[in-house]
Amino acid sequence: MTDNAKPSGLRKGLTNYGDEGFSMFHRRAFIKGAGYTDDALSRPIVAIANTGSGYNPCHGNVPQLIEAIKRGVMLAGGLPIEFPTISLAEGFAHPTSMYLRNLMSMDTEEMIRAQPMDAVVLIGGCDKTVPAQLMGAAAAGIPAIEVVTGPMLTGSYRGERIGACTDCRRFWAKFRGDEINQQQIDAVNTQLVATVGTCSVMGTASTMACISEALGIMAPGGATAPAVSADRIRVAERTGALAVAMIGQNLTPDKILTPKAIENGLRVLLAVGGSTNGIIHLTAIAGRLGIKIDLEQLDSMARETPVLVDLKPSGQHYMEDLHKAGGLTTVMREIRHLLHLDAMTVTGRTLGEEIDAAPESFPQDVVRPLAEPIYPQGGIAVLRGNLAPGGAIIKQSAADPGLMEHEGRAVVFEDADDLARRMDDPDLDVTAQDVLVLKRIGPVGAPGMPEAGYIPIPRKLGRQGVKDMVRISDGRMSGTAAGTVVLHVTPEAAIGGPLAIVQNGDRIRLSVKERSIELKVSDQEIARRLAALPKLQVDPKERGYRKLFLTTITQADEGCDFDFLKATDTTATVPQLGKPKQKAE
Ligand code: FES
Repeated sequence: MTDNAKPSGLRKGLTNYGDEGFSMFHRRAFIKGAGYTDDALSRPIVAIANTGSGYNPCHGNVPQLIEAIKRGVMLAGGLPIEFPTISLAEGFAHPTSMYLRNLMSMDTEEMIRAQPMDAVVLIGGCDKTVPAQLMGAAAAGIPAIEVVTGPMLTGSYRGERIGACTDCRRFWAKFRGDEINQQQIDAVNTQLVATVGTCSVMGTASTMACISEALGIMAPGGATAPAVSADRIRVAERTGALAVAMIGQNLTPDKILTPKAIENGLRVLLAVGGSTNGIIHLTAIAGRLGIKIDLEQLDSMARETPVLVDLKPSGQHYMEDLHKAGGLTTVMREIRHLLHLDAMTVTGRTLGEEIDAAPESFPQDVVRPLAEPIYPQGGIAVLRGNLAPGGAIIKQSAADPGLMEHEGRAVVFEDADDLARRMDDPDLDVTAQDVLVLKRIGPVGAPGMPEAGYIPIPRKLGRQGVKDMVRISDGRMSGTAAGTVVLHVTPEAAIGGPLAIVQNGDRIRLSVKERSIELKVSDQEIARRLAALPKLQVDPKERGYRKLFLTTITQADEGCDFDFLKATDTTATVPQLGKPKQKAE
């Protein structure tokens, strides 16, 4: 035991047989059956959440990472024990991996609680896995450290460097617009994912990796090393050693994931031009610790945080380039005057100390200096208006500047099926100036808030060379996608939000400058249409996880967590307006 009061190692969380002595005797007998010695079993236990799965190519290097983590744990005097949890890969989960994120977080939390361990290493990677693990670990309350599988390397198509999944969408749009043929799109398909690992751009997986490092819950330098690099293996080994050290310091998630750390995570999300999904996930992680993210204040923070990282989809490079440019440290050095440098990290040192201890920066062209950003402010803007009283999001750094002040006629799709049925109809009444509206792809509507908010350009317009239009939905969009796309409209259509009453031909005005999204219909007509909406009722025949989901899921502004999983009290609201009280260097 680490002290007289608390059991540790194998003694933690004994199975209840009504006789503690027998419970320990029984547990010890069974684990000895796996060949462990008494010496091994006397060590502090570092558990490793194994998210390897044949259905998750983004986690294809997990076996190598586990080997390295175990090495790190044993070199530091601990006993590593791996255990499986749910693994979620973006394209392999129906209806969408977001539908299962909270289930994975519950699995992670409960297995951390149920099994004897003194610390846990969480191997995440693909989009929903990192938030699910951090949500679960935050609630479970033992020392926890995140390690990601790392980004894939880029491939090559006819001499052009390509990688998932910004280029997936770019080439698919070309194919839909008849710019390339079947043979060519097949050749692209073979090259988009050149190795195992997470998407090679600043999508949700890369965003969550960068946020994790900024939060201090990952080994310093751990966000960017490619999945198939020696650096990635070294990060894993160091993670194992750090996990053992965290036990002695009792560095539990609440000491690391503080309001200051959450603000650092938001800053980095903005500075890297991160995925809009990162906001929902960080809101959910913070919500497990009683920390609320205020969207208005986030917008103020965005206005003073330039996008510095020249990565797709906002820029031109790939994650392996960011790693070669010094990784996230290079970014954090540029915005250090905007960060809370006294926030604690998994090393037991502060974020500021870790930034200072990292190798020196050098000239490179991936992370811009503060004075020459790739986007001057606010990669992400928060919109309000009669169409989104609870808020909506636009990734303006990846939008068409010519469309950010736009009024147009609504072309409405009632749900995803309606979209699929009519989108490519040659008789669809649509022009490039119209505003595409997709309803019922929110948390309840789809369900699971799929990444269908990146509404494709109708084929007949695609063939005319139209590349972008204003698109609005209550869904999400992949972090790898770009365009003038208004997302996360809250409240969603399925629960009676104003999006539900938009009709074909209504006028809609988007003004990113004014942060507004307005339905140009009179208040009386809006009230009349809202009153006529049918009441939402969960089908009494629903059962199982789907019933739990439909009856407890919260909206995007609350992180789409289940209401019963959030902390019961709000103890802090972030971000606080204004910069941290420290001198800029
Ligand atoms: Fe797994 Fe992009 S699909 S990270």
